[in-house]
Amino acid sequence: MHVNLYEKIWMYAAAGIILVFLASMGYTTLGRAMQPPSHIETIDPASVRTDPEFGSPGVTIHEDGTATVVIQAFMFAFLPLEIRVPRGRDVTFRMTSPDVIHGFQIVQTNGNTMVVPGYVSQFTTRFDRAGEYLIVCNEYCGVGHHVMSATLIVEDMPASAGTGEAPAETGETPAETGEASAGAGETPAETGEAPAGTGASAGTGASTETGESAAGTEGDR
Ligand code: CUA
Repeated sequence: MHVNLYEKIWMYAAAGIILVFLASMGYTTLGRAMQPPSHIETIDPASVRTDPEFGSPGVTIHEDGTATVVIQAFMFAFLPLEIRVPRGRDVTFRMTSPDVIHGFQIVQTNGNTMVVPGYVSQFTTRFDRAGEYLIVCNEYCGVGHHVMSATLIVEDMPASAGTGEAPAETGETPAETGEASAGAGETPAETGEAPAGTGASAGTGASTETGESAAGTEGDR
């Protein structure tokens, strides 16, 4: 049977493209270990609040200046409510939930993960711009979903000091208590509201775009 020349070219091109795709999947899976990393570290949701790590969430600044942030995400808040991390250094977020699925999105950065009860979610990123960032829950988790938020403050810190009160400008803002729709929280810019008793609602004006680099955010969901 006669196949037109151009038809042949398209057939071979299509087959070639498919082979390239398959090969790239095989390479990244086997050669680069690009497997879904989730569900590696488990935790009993009932013990989260008494867990040595997650029972006392907070920020740890390591000697090399990097930071680890341990977070509890629960209905309907994050602990700690205010998170201070160093600018320009790796920050590893570790979090879990004692109740239902939550989201953890640092607005206008690449920090974004689901928080699934029973598992520890972890990712590492860095923030190149000092300022105040809004953290929101972006998985609908119940009637208080829209008020579930926290504040991330990125500031210059001395490499070895734990709580350097660096003069990083934390933007001031009219703390408008946004009536964010209880929807998907996909429009976090408007969820200006902090959970009761934050005291952190001082401002967010700053956190417009952040050109920070992606350090494995995708990887560690
Ligand atoms: Cu937690 Cu929505």
